[in-house]
Amino acid sequence: MQDNEATTFTSTFEQEVHEGLTAHPKHLSSKYFYDEVGDKLFQDIMAMPEYYLTDCEFNILEENKAEIAELFGKNGVPFSLFELGAGDGKKTKILLHHFIEKNIPFDYRPIDISQNALDQLEKSLKEEIPQIEINTLQGTYFDTLRDIGNTNGRRKIILFLGSNIGNLLHPQAVDFLKNMRDSINEGDLIFMGFDQKKNPQTILNAYNDKAGITEAFNKNILARINKEMGADFDLDKFLHWEVYDPETGTAKSYLVSKEEQEILIESLELKVRLKPWETIHTEISQKYDDAVVAWLARKAGLKILTEFTDSEKNYKNYVFKK
Ligand code: AVI
Repeated sequence: MQDNEATTFTSTFEQEVHEGLTAHPKHLSSKYFYDEVGDKLFQDIMAMPEYYLTDCEFNILEENKAEIAELFGKNGVPFSLFELGAGDGKKTKILLHHFIEKNIPFDYRPIDISQNALDQLEKSLKEEIPQIEINTLQGTYFDTLRDIGNTNGRRKIILFLGSNIGNLLHPQAVDFLKNMRDSINEGDLIFMGFDQKKNPQTILNAYNDKAGITEAFNKNILARINKEMGADFDLDKFLHWEVYDPETGTAKSYLVSKEEQEILIESLELKVRLKPWETIHTEISQKYDDAVVAWLARKAGLKILTEFTDSEKNYKNYVFKK
């Protein structure tokens, strides 16, 4: 078994796992947390009291739905509401119910990588809000943003909730925002959630819950490599470790090897050696303030039209235009 020969990969997941686990220091991308198990764990995280982000955004939408409706449905002009990474649409349903109640003309176009998530969302919406016009779009953010750009006609509103942008480093976030900018026209809007800097302990608690749900979520990436690449990671030999730097606003998740170990990843024909206390960096969850969001928007050629927040200013939804 060689660990330094050119290997052929059958997926980007395989390629990135190979790159990340042969790098110094080791890293894996949090985008690979999500399979059926990971999706369920993330639903559980969103329901935890420590994970304040969900409740904050839920309350912001609930408190401001009338004002948001005015902004989106300006002068009664029909619009298409695109949502990137729609998931189960729990928070969005607050807006959808309100728009239908107020006879605001719109159609809903949820986008997700998972066709299964889209099917479930469509089914639940047809039961709960049968009047809704829904068109699902399956694909990656990048591909679907290009599709959004090519749709002519209705005014576009793009939702990107949950502070999902926080899982990107600043340069990637700027590129992502630039892509969004390129997919909208004058008069269209982007409505996005950005978790804010706050008491560092609150942030650490949100990413290191006592019940161990976040730990299981973080370790699910190893479980996936075991299942999908025939590896033999022993999950008990890793610690879930969270750090938060209040200066930069970056929360970082690691898996820390508790002992010296050697892992075989069959489909990569790779042996990975870990020293005691060696780290695998898995996720960043960036926290923001107004200055950083304004800087990101400026770099991407977007303007901030307005923002909504909670009484503690723990979380903000910003509205961008071209
Ligand atoms: C999806 N994303 C915005 C979550 C976050 O807060 O970074 C993922 C997560 N990781 C640990 N807990 C939740």
